[in-house]
Amino acid sequence: MKTIHTVAVLGLGTMGHGIVQTFAAAGCRVCGYDEQKTARDSLHGRIRQNLKDFVGAGLVCRQSVGPILSRITVCDSEEEAVRDAQFVTEAVREDLAAKQMLFERIEGMVPDKTILASNSSTFPISQSAVKMRRPERAIIAHWFNPPHIVPTVEVVPGKRTSEQTTQTTLALLKRIGKQAIRINQELPGFLVNRVQMAVAREVWDLLDRGVASAEDIDAAIRGSMGFRLAAIGPLEVNDFGGLDIHASVFRNLVPEIRSSAELPVKIRRLVEAGHYGVKTGKGFYDYTPRTIAAKLSRRDQRFLMLLKMFYARKNATAKK
Ligand SMILES: NC(=O)c1ccc[n+]([C@@H]2O[C@H](COP(=O)([O-])OP(=O)(O)OC[C@H]3O[C@@H](n4cnc5c(N)ncnc54)[C@H](O)[C@@H]3O)[C@@H](O)[C@H]2O)c1
Repeated sequence: MKTIHTVAVLGLGTMGHGIVQTFAAAGCRVCGYDEQKTARDSLHGRIRQNLKDFVGAGLVCRQSVGPILSRITVCDSEEEAVRDAQFVTEAVREDLAAKQMLFERIEGMVPDKTILASNSSTFPISQSAVKMRRPERAIIAHWFNPPHIVPTVEVVPGKRTSEQTTQTTLALLKRIGKQAIRINQELPGFLVNRVQMAVAREVWDLLDRGVASAEDIDAAIRGSMGFRLAAIGPLEVNDFGGLDIHASVFRNLVPEIRSSAELPVKIRRLVEAGHYGVKTGKGFYDYTPRTIAAKLSRRDQRFLMLLKMFYARKNATAKK
């Protein structure tokens, strides 16, 4: 397959709509489908809103907004969405049975060479593609929220994924401006989420123990680990700090930090009470519709500044 120019995205929620935007901004024709009519009807409006921030940050020029939106087609059926696609990615809910059925179904609707990708956060492609006749064309392409801004996409082939599928997926994601990273083993959580959860477990435990307030934990981590990690990688941090020092800190500290697989108390209670964070108006912090809009806008502006500072030249959406 020489050039992929038509892409389908199934599931147009938090992740799917940003994935649609990224492909369209890089010049691909994109067909989107969601089983919910509201998600289908609101797609162009949500992307138009995101693009305003890109224009504000100087990452997309104003005249490009119309052409980007015009490359996006909302379809009324899964079949219509995937029919002409050379690359299909699913971003439906995190439900293994739903993903297995989806891959089995759409395999029969697309040409043999079409690549079928999953954005699952946890299920390896060997599980999601278990019912496929030709699993060599199935792969994980795992984006991070907000997908139209965060640069990395983890590409994880399964045991039966072909090398050609892996190489084509890596090349496509790089072409659209993403930092595509090949993951060599099919571990649960792939790479980034494993690290993210190791950090979250300790953060939630420190909060439970009252070691610092939520505000202070966020400020301390942002102004230290987060500050460094926005600019250099964790292994580089170790090399700069000295491996002898980091090895002795590991020996002294690791026996002290949380190792239990049980969910820490505060987050468990919040989840049991239906407090899921921004989407319900209460999480570790309290939100109102006004503060949510303001915080979301501030978050995306900061992310866009980082994107511009460290990744803009690699980003295919720039000035398109
Ligand atoms: N939210 C994140 O931070 C994040 C990050 C990386 C990966 N993911 C993964 O991406 C996937 C989607 O997550 P999300 O946060 O966008 O969820 P979401 O709930 O915001 O969106 C899922 C969308 O899929 C639709 N849908 C469900 N079943 C469908 C089907 N069979 N056909 C068509 N549409 C269907 C729903 O109507 C909904 O609009 C999940 O696998 C999730 O684990 C999420």
